[in-house]
Amino acid sequence: MKKEIKVRVPATVANLVSGFDVLGMAICEPFDEIFLRKCTTPGIKITHTDNFGLPTEANQNVAGVSLLAMTQAIGNMQGGWEIEMHKHIKPGSGLGSSAASAAGTVFAANILLGSPFTLQQLVPFAMEGEKLASGVPHADNIAPCLFGGITLIRPDGDSEIIQLTSPDIFVVVLHPQIELKTADARNVMPKEISIKDAVRQFGNVGALVAGICTNSPALMAKGMNDLVAEPYRKKFIPFFDEMKHAALSAGAIGGGISGSGPSVFMICEDRQVAVTVEIAMHKKFESSKIPFHTYLTRIQTNGIEIF
Ligand code: HSE
Repeated sequence: MKKEIKVRVPATVANLVSGFDVLGMAICEPFDEIFLRKCTTPGIKITHTDNFGLPTEANQNVAGVSLLAMTQAIGNMQGGWEIEMHKHIKPGSGLGSSAASAAGTVFAANILLGSPFTLQQLVPFAMEGEKLASGVPHADNIAPCLFGGITLIRPDGDSEIIQLTSPDIFVVVLHPQIELKTADARNVMPKEISIKDAVRQFGNVGALVAGICTNSPALMAKGMNDLVAEPYRKKFIPFFDEMKHAALSAGAIGGGISGSGPSVFMICEDRQVAVTVEIAMHKKFESSKIPFHTYLTRIQTNGIEIF
């Protein structure tokens, strides 16, 4: 049986504005690389080639706890693991950094073990990593990371993943180089919403899913309105309203906060519009004097890739 594997793991945009905790999309850039080895020494050894300063103790590392959950489910496993992380998705970016570590590691381990689990069965193991990172086990980054494309999660029961068709769109991401913790971004949200707002949100998510499945930009645009998270979180992101307005004026279909932020994403119908949108967002954000990166990328439909 193979003893070593290298995987490339995509960044993800969770929520897709109105689908709080239930919708997510994998994108081609940025991505992490994870090298996993099965070894004879028991335990989990974690090393990083990045300088993000993430913990290396297995029970404090999102990849470590996810792998522990998986090996405990198998029971009676001989030997241990070495995880070598080459992270390019910055923690606290809103681009699914913790999900990439968790999902990438359990995916790789599953292959080395002869694939005893389906992708769907890997989800709860990787969610242990999300629980460690944010205090709440959610699957809206894990699912698109594992399955690729755009995914919908039914949070009831065992977090069933439903893969949606991927529309032919371009994705622009502006990532301010500030760290925003998901736990903090969740704490500013109200614990309850009114029936009136819930009904509007249901309609928006429904329109967005219908728009995605029928490749209809007009319907996607109508559905990308959020009453649940964006109004409370946008204060953490300098020039959020200005960037969004500039992007929509430049022809973007829609967009908003990526995951819990601070990254902001916009979707566009064609590359030329996406270039214009990227420039428009860049111009608005640069007055903040905060360093940032932009990506002009596409939907990543393969999920985690072995290389
Ligand atoms: N759905 C999550 C949130 C994604 O918005 O809090 C961030 O991990």
